[in-house]
Amino acid sequence: MSILKILYYPNRKLKQKANLVSNIDHNINKIINDMFETMYLAKGIGLAATQVNINKCIIVIDISKKHNQQLILINPKIIKRIGKIIMEEGCLSIPNISAPVIRSEKIILQSLDCYGRLFELQAESLLSVCIQHEIDHLNGLLFIDRLSLSKQNYIKNIIDHNL
Ligand code: NI
Repeated sequence: MSILKILYYPNRKLKQKANLVSNIDHNINKIINDMFETMYLAKGIGLAATQVNINKCIIVIDISKKHNQQLILINPKIIKRIGKIIMEEGCLSIPNISAPVIRSEKIILQSLDCYGRLFELQAESLLSVCIQHEIDHLNGLLFIDRLSLSKQNYIKNIIDHNL
C-alpha cells in the first residue's frame, strides 16, 4: 500500500467531475486500499478519489474510532433524501477550517461494492452527512461551496492569509 498525496484547496483539480468506474479490477482495488491508508493517516472519516488526484467515482469512508467499519462506494447515487440536518463539517482538502452545513438527514443510495455488485444503503446522521460530503467531491464541490457567499469570502480570506 502507499500513501497518496492529498490535494488542497484552492487546487483547481478539486473542481473536476469524476468519471464513472467501468471496470473494477486489481488497479481499482489498489486505489481503494491506498485511499483507506491515506485517509486513516490524515485522521479523516471519508475520502473521495478526486482529493487524491484520481478522476474516478470512488469513495472510502470509516466513521468508527477503531477503523473497523470500512465502507467503499463506487459510482454511488443518492436515490432518496429525507429531512434536513445541520452538522459542523471539515475536509482533508481544507485543513483547519470547519463550518455548519445543511444536508439531508437521511439518504438512500445505490452503489457498487469492490466486487462490482450493486447494493442499496440507508444512512442517517453522521454517515449520511459524510456520504453527501464525499459525493459532492466527485461532482467537484467542496463543503464551503454550500455556505453563504459572505461565509465563503470570510473563509477564503482566512486561507489566503495563511498561505
Ligand atoms: Ni472533504
